[in-house]
Amino acid sequence: MSQKKVLLVDPIRSGGVVPDGIKRELLEYLDGYSTCLYCTGDLHELRKPNIKKLVESLEEFIDCDYVRLVHGAREGMFTVMFAMFKEYVLKGARAPVVVADGNAHYTSILAAERSMLDVVFTATTEHPEYCVVAEDYEKKISEVEREHGKPPLLALVTYPDGYYGNLPELKRIVDICKSHGVPVLINAAYAIGRMKFSLRDTGADFVVGSGHKSMACTGPIGVLGIVGREAEIVLRKSKFKEGKEVELLGCTVRGAPAICLLKVLPYLKKRVVKWDAKVNIARYVADRLEKELEFRLLGERPRRHDLLHFETPRLYEISVKIRDRFFLYKELKKRKIIGIKPGITKRMKISTYLLEKEDANYFVDSLVEIVERFEKYGFTNR
Ligand SMILES: Cc1ncc(COP(=O)(O)O)c(C=O)c1O
Repeated sequence: MSQKKVLLVDPIRSGGVVPDGIKRELLEYLDGYSTCLYCTGDLHELRKPNIKKLVESLEEFIDCDYVRLVHGAREGMFTVMFAMFKEYVLKGARAPVVVADGNAHYTSILAAERSMLDVVFTATTEHPEYCVVAEDYEKKISEVEREHGKPPLLALVTYPDGYYGNLPELKRIVDICKSHGVPVLINAAYAIGRMKFSLRDTGADFVVGSGHKSMACTGPIGVLGIVGREAEIVLRKSKFKEGKEVELLGCTVRGAPAICLLKVLPYLKKRVVKWDAKVNIARYVADRLEKELEFRLLGERPRRHDLLHFETPRLYEISVKIRDRFFLYKELKKRKIIGIKPGITKRMKISTYLLEKEDANYFVDSLVEIVERFEKYGFTNR
């Protein structure tokens, strides 16, 4: 079995690979403030390079009223939370609490903590699905209301989460939150740039995406999308410096990542249309690994995302037998497959996003070959 190209199966990197042609074009934007040569006072209004058009195109792409470039999904979440904290918590209107799904990413939690907010988590179903229980938003919001005498500041939904790739019932959750007057922030770091996404359709107020995670972009960059009246709070202007948006410290991404997103957007528009084919590959790989190696898939079924998380008892048993936790990493690397976490054998988290059918077969065949050989011969005959 031999392979010419390198296969990358790392969930945090597969959606962030920049197309080769664009990589070359970026070279001339590597110097410092490369977006700012013709500064008109506000990054989002710049015409040369045309960041204004990028922002407008992103508003269409994400289907929302306003987009701002931020440095990542986490910075987007912090921007929203801190602005809302000052407007609603400090003025006594809302409780200093974010109600977040039980699969929320650590960066969401840190964004809340940095904004002086407490986090209450909703329940998930048990092993092996770990699905967010939509109805639990009702319960958790009501508990906050009872305890504080006012609604929580914000609800957060991770769509999908980074552990199992589960896509929660957005509409149901947003309806519940809205019935309590609680604004909703969606963390779509693993969605925007991979699949089609309309913030307006969800009924939520905010969404964040991650350029380096899912938008084929060099980092750090993210997008913040807003629909409706909370935009006034988050995009408020300075009273001292005309036109500058306070929460964004005037201008955010002032260099190559902004140019990269500008150049890559037409490609993203094309690739999100092919999402179903990506999901089919994920299902195919999951199916084969479950059947041929008894890997146990975690998360919802059927799969609706390329992120796959398995329990892998056979890998663990081999590692114990041969006293080498790194055997799989080393064997895959020899076969030009990279991106699984070195030394982890009880579980395996992968993304099939970059795999065509032929690559998927090569990946699974390689795993089967490695496992069967090590089970039979152990350390010898390698
Ligand atoms: C679900 C999820 N949300 C947010 C983030 C953070 O994204 P960023 O690096 O753009 O802040 C990650 C990164 O791993 C993630 O997996």
